[in-house]
Amino acid sequence: MAHRIAVLPGDGIGPEVTAAAVKVVEATGVAVAWEWCTAGKEAMERLGDPLPQETLEKIRSARVALKGPVTTPVGTGHQSVNVRLRKGLKLYASLRPVRSLPGIRTRYDEVDLVIVRENTEGLYAGIEHEVVPGVVETIKVFTEEACLRIARFAFDYAIKRHRRKVTAAHKATVMRMTDGLFLDCCRRIAAQHPQISYEEVLVDNLAMQLTLNPNQFDVIVLENLYGDIVSDLASGLVGGLGLVPGANIGDECVVFEAVHGSAPDIAGRNIANPIALILSAALMLEHVGEGRAAQAIERAVRYVTAEGRLRTADLGGTARTTEMTEGIVRALERNA
Ligand code: NAI
Ligand code: MG
Repeated sequence: MAHRIAVLPGDGIGPEVTAAAVKVVEATGVAVAWEWCTAGKEAMERLGDPLPQETLEKIRSARVALKGPVTTPVGTGHQSVNVRLRKGLKLYASLRPVRSLPGIRTRYDEVDLVIVRENTEGLYAGIEHEVVPGVVETIKVFTEEACLRIARFAFDYAIKRHRRKVTAAHKATVMRMTDGLFLDCCRRIAAQHPQISYEEVLVDNLAMQLTLNPNQFDVIVLENLYGDIVSDLASGLVGGLGLVPGANIGDECVVFEAVHGSAPDIAGRNIANPIALILSAALMLEHVGEGRAAQAIERAVRYVTAEGRLRTADLGGTARTTEMTEGIVRALERNA
């Protein structure tokens, strides 16, 4: 039977990279019944809401979604579609495996990190107000429940994937209550998993250490904002945002999407790198039990980057999104 998968093309480069990922999934031969959903600018114009109820319902019913990035206008009344989606579907963990790809030259050899980001709380809780004119507040909310849940997720992942270490990043020296609770929860879960080593690092030091020697880390667990920033930083270690996949995971639904945003600076020009969303689609196939197809996609992507003939502009080349996609499809078909 075909897998039912909701697909949200999003804005900016979203539709371009989503078309690429769908094409690559179809080339694996796995049967998918795609349920196309609208979100972002198009949904706003057509239905007056950038995240319409019908889109949420479709994802809830399919339980799995592939999503392109959605633009968040700065300074308007609307809450970010991404934040609403993650909160609405209780996608509490964001998982970003950051791995070097063959043929992509960077300062580092063989980076292999996993970022686990808490996805529902912290400064993204959206509680903001004006105290008096000229004084505004954003409230950072942590709950014990969400901190324990993300710590448990990081350790469970480490065990399942045979990773050696979990590092909790924090700034509990300054935010003694919020980051203090986060650390306390990580320590409690770490104590239940003696087979995984556990360490703590101040988040500013983490940023420096990552650029000096990324491989001293393995799985890194962070609260929402630190996770957002460190994910982009870590993407830079392996060649940029065009390469790093991700998944937003909850108990009921999982939404697969790249770390990158809608890249308005290059949108509509057929030059975006589709690899990040194609690798997100591979994570998705693995999640729905199509591990062989997922591996085949990864092999095809690695073949294309190693060969080095097709490079999009972010990788210093001139290949178009569609050319890179076709190259990956050809590699996939040869391998199959
Ligand atoms: P961005 O990730 O869209 O772009 C940052 C830089 O990386 C740009 O120079 C862009 O051209 C480049 N880049 C990103 N993805 C690329 C790709 N696949 N291939 C080649 N180059 C790529 O971040 P930015 O500019 O801060 O945000 C743009 C919009 O995206 C904002 O409205 C933001 O809110 C939204 N956004 C949405 C996300 C989502 O839907 N999950 C995640 C992050 C940002
Ligand atoms: Mg981000």
